[in-house]
Amino acid sequence: MLRKCVGLSLMLFAAASIALAQGKPIPQIVKQASKYTFLVDGKPFLMLGGQVDNFSSWLPGPSYHNIEPIPDEIAKVLPGFKSYNANTIEFPVHWGYIEPREGEFDFAGFDQIVRDIRVHALRAVVLWFGTWKGGDDTFQPDWVRRNPGRFPLALDEDGKALRTLTPLGAATLEADRKAFAALMKHLRELDENDRTVILVQVENEAGILGAARDHSPEANKLFHGPVPEEFATALKKQPGTWAQVFGRQFAEEAFTTYYMARYINSVAQAGKDAYPLPLCLNVWMGGPGTNAFGRPGDSYPSGGGQPHTLDLWKAAAPAIDVIAPDIYDRSAVNYRRILADYARPDNPLLLVETGEGKEYARYCFMAIGEYSAIGFAQFGVGIKEYGTTPEGEFGPQFADVAADYRLLRNAAPVIAELQGTKKLQSAIEEEYIASRLLSFDRYDVQVRFPPAMGRQYGWGEPRPLTIPSGRALFAQVQPDEFLILGFDSTIDFRPPVTSGHKEARFVQIEEGRYDGGVWTPIRFQPGVSAKSPARGLALPKEGAMLRVKLAWD
Ligand code: DGJ
Repeated sequence: MLRKCVGLSLMLFAAASIALAQGKPIPQIVKQASKYTFLVDGKPFLMLGGQVDNFSSWLPGPSYHNIEPIPDEIAKVLPGFKSYNANTIEFPVHWGYIEPREGEFDFAGFDQIVRDIRVHALRAVVLWFGTWKGGDDTFQPDWVRRNPGRFPLALDEDGKALRTLTPLGAATLEADRKAFAALMKHLRELDENDRTVILVQVENEAGILGAARDHSPEANKLFHGPVPEEFATALKKQPGTWAQVFGRQFAEEAFTTYYMARYINSVAQAGKDAYPLPLCLNVWMGGPGTNAFGRPGDSYPSGGGQPHTLDLWKAAAPAIDVIAPDIYDRSAVNYRRILADYARPDNPLLLVETGEGKEYARYCFMAIGEYSAIGFAQFGVGIKEYGTTPEGEFGPQFADVAADYRLLRNAAPVIAELQGTKKLQSAIEEEYIASRLLSFDRYDVQVRFPPAMGRQYGWGEPRPLTIPSGRALFAQVQPDEFLILGFDSTIDFRPPVTSGHKEARFVQIEEGRYDGGVWTPIRFQPGVSAKSPARGLALPKEGAMLRVKLAWD
């Protein structure tokens, strides 16, 4: 039996910059050259996650306003993670739940959730539903919601109060900072030895809904005044008012973005001071496909980390490590554009929230293989309406990503090590694109997809009735050897034109899996001889993981 070791270099890489706490090193996102790696327990980690519903992480405990806690919801959701093949659960922590009365914290429910998650051997991402939750005020404590004098709401153009708290509320900021710091301090005490929680999201889809900016007298004064000098300088802009610096069209959104980013940075820093876990911000996306003319505060909350405001966020919120787009767009074209916008040299790509459904299985491969995403998570796992069975199995909308996770999870150390290099690439089927060409050192690879969408060129053909599913991910583990994970596609190899050779040949094809980091073949591909031209390698609908050796000289 052929055995190959992986992972040694990963351990060495990880050892460098880790501050060891009492037990396991604290999770970190590190950057080497232009490549980001998520280190968990000191090793590269590919986050394969699922996000539970907004109300799934309540346990019996304090009722903070008119919503009664639903007992033990999380316990119902957790068993489904096994067949979903995920390694991480994302769950919200409502401000109102942990601080039902000002200054009185109750972490009993939170502790129970973390302990339950440990029993299921999962990692966790905590989503802090504090001042903002997508323009929804349901999750704040009563003592905040009922006191707009102390915790002011943003006002629209007519002076009408919106449902969104203004980022200019000094008392709100102070209260959120205290609550978030208390949560992080508590988390440190609870979890420092286990590191179950690996990442924390600060607020949820923050921004103002109903207007592009707050129109309170204080906000009006600031808006007509100068852009803070350090902000203009960081953006390499000349001083001036918001309209002068950013232009009339963008001024209001830029203004909200600055105050939103400063506010969230301050909350984030208070949390980091207590427990320095990586922190992320998630974004309710605007852009193509959104309604209401794509206007900030109308089509999407104004002030969030949109592609066109990322520079502003990076300048104003250094305590946020990752700005993560929530992608619910089902179009491959739009999905790719958003990934490209957020995979920046100053921003690790993370899909902390994406949609349910078959399409996203291809996008998972695209995000991880083409754009070096450090993680992926579908929203809504365990929701009854999405077909969760009484036994807790997630519904069919999650089956295709579960199939991805089965392969990705097994090969994660190899993938995480090669991300950000030309040695890791993926190809997915897209509308009317019947094949893709990838170029590696020593090999060109053609990935062909079944004609689910019809031929790319042609006339009078039936239109597609099925959602495409072809996807393949390649890791060039040796100059002449590839690890291939994939579904519903056919693969051909050729030497590069410059080699002077026309055909490559298969030397060995093994289907297998990694056991403890060691490749273990399950079966050899029949009919492969040293003479077989390296063409027509079929990856079945249900998916397979192969190691393929090739030669051409
Ligand atoms: C985006 C939000 O961030 C989530 O909390 C959730 O409400 C989903 N939308 C629902 O689709």
